[in-house]
Amino acid sequence: MTAPSGAVHAAVLAGLLMASTGASTAGPAEDHRVRGWTIATQLCRQCHVIGRASQPGAFVGPAFLRVAQMPSTTGPALAVFLQSHHKRMPSLRLEREEMTAVIDYILSLKGAGTPLP
Ligand code: HEC
Repeated sequence: MTAPSGAVHAAVLAGLLMASTGASTAGPAEDHRVRGWTIATQLCRQCHVIGRASQPGAFVGPAFLRVAQMPSTTGPALAVFLQSHHKRMPSLRLEREEMTAVIDYILSLKGAGTPLP
């Protein structure tokens, strides 16, 4: 219950995204990943490149693609990272479900090809 309006916004954005990509036929796992991407675009984009394409600008954090490709990056490792305090990255108090969605999205970058940017 940290940001109810943000959650609604995320749901609307995810809906728009699925409508525009035709992903509405995808299963729950795909929906979860789309939700993770949506959350990342709202909460993480300011400091991280979240997709596969490089983006102009300066980012203080590592690109999620690079994070995904580190062998040490696993679901549990990301969960620990996101729930702990850091020196340079603010603690983002995500709901558990938001956190697992973002983690699913980051891990999906490990694989080849994704329909999401
Ligand atoms: C205000 C800037 C900022 C925001 C917002 C931010 N991060 Fe970060 N993030 C950083 C910085 C800086 C680092 C590098 C920290 C370090 O190496 O100690 C980092 C590192 C990371 C890492 C790498 C951990 C590793 O093993 O190297 C992950 C994963 C990560 N962030 C996820 C996220 C997610 C998910 C979000 C959004 C929910 C997010 N960050 C939002 C600044 C940010």
